[in-house]
Amino acid sequence: MSDQPRYMSGFGGHFETEAIEGALPKGRNSPQKPPFGLYAEQLSGSAFTMPRSENRRSWLYRMRPTADHRPFARYDGAPLFAASADEAPLAPNRLRWDPPADLPEGTDFVDGLVTMLTTRDPSDLEGVAVHLYRASKTMERRVFVDSDGELLVIPQQGALRLVTELGLLELEPGKVGLVPRGVKFRVEVEGDARGYVAENYGAPFRLPELGPIGSNGLANPRDFEAPAAWFEDSDHPTEVVQKSLGHLWTTTLDHSPLDVVAWHGNYAPWRYDLSRFNVINTVSFDHPDPSIFTVLTSPSNVPGRANADFVIFPPRWMVAEDTFRPPWFHRNLMSEAMGLIHGAYDAKAEGFAPGGLSLHNIMSGHGPDLESWQKASEAALEPTKIAGTMAFMVETCWPYRPTRFALDRAQDDYDQAWAGFPKAKLPR
Ligand SMILES: [Fe+2]
Repeated sequence: MSDQPRYMSGFGGHFETEAIEGALPKGRNSPQKPPFGLYAEQLSGSAFTMPRSENRRSWLYRMRPTADHRPFARYDGAPLFAASADEAPLAPNRLRWDPPADLPEGTDFVDGLVTMLTTRDPSDLEGVAVHLYRASKTMERRVFVDSDGELLVIPQQGALRLVTELGLLELEPGKVGLVPRGVKFRVEVEGDARGYVAENYGAPFRLPELGPIGSNGLANPRDFEAPAAWFEDSDHPTEVVQKSLGHLWTTTLDHSPLDVVAWHGNYAPWRYDLSRFNVINTVSFDHPDPSIFTVLTSPSNVPGRANADFVIFPPRWMVAEDTFRPPWFHRNLMSEAMGLIHGAYDAKAEGFAPGGLSLHNIMSGHGPDLESWQKASEAALEPTKIAGTMAFMVETCWPYRPTRFALDRAQDDYDQAWAGFPKAKLPR
């Protein structure tokens, strides 16, 4: 068995994979005696009776059952993780953050989680939260598991290796990785790694419908990579930190739970290289809504109104004629949390740095800042390429609420971005 990750291509496919030949039972999900004395365990990411298109489950064949653990106790080792947002009334202000200078130092991924924005309560099975992370230490003999939602990991600096129950995923800035709800994993790092995590409590992320775009475009299924089975046979004590109903809990096993020797099913981690995104945009005039850049969507119960959309603003040609090319001023029902992986975002001149964050909540007016407006209003409309940048948005129908940590660190002059616009001149 190699420690080099091996990947299987496709989104939401029914994969089958074994790290040892003969470990995967043939023709049975739960045979009376699985090969090698392995334990069969079903991991369901949807209700049993969901329609087939929504049904997600994998069968794991492991050295010990997950059920073999002692009681969990409260875990308080992650100083900036927050179970919920600040409870004070939230002013309808636009908010923006520099990369916080006081993220945890010398910690691993779990202790370096920094909660910035939350919506809803995890027990609603709807909503999304946005965390930052800073990790400069590999998780040693501990794993993390989130019962509250799936985790979309968006590296901004430094490489990560996600060692999951179902296999190995390597990530670096420009790639994103998803760990499904309930899947245990360890994060290994070399050096100082930073980034964002979108935690989705709702329906699992899937590719958006393409409608008139047709059968190709945006994120193509073949570019998603699920890990082949990989396991470790370790009898060292291993801590499990579990997020459940908003809080962190800990227990210690007498073995590593990353002991799944074979698995099959459609509920699995994956990674995706954002540079594979096929960007669709106008070739005539006007600025399409950002939904044209949707990589992943988590639907709510209201058709077309996403519980969460993961949207990117990748390098692309801008060719629109007689058009203000950056996003015009807008106010939305949907709430927008934006982050920046690298480069500069075209609607903001400064103040939005890689590793930073902005929040334009429900119905808050926003758009280009004065400098970007002046520039784009006067620009010669030749074809130009927006290059060397990757911003993203986690958009949700549930208004975000910042944590106390976030409120205390918001830029205090963000409103100035929209000060000083000249009044329109009407004919007299
Ligand atoms: Fe916006």
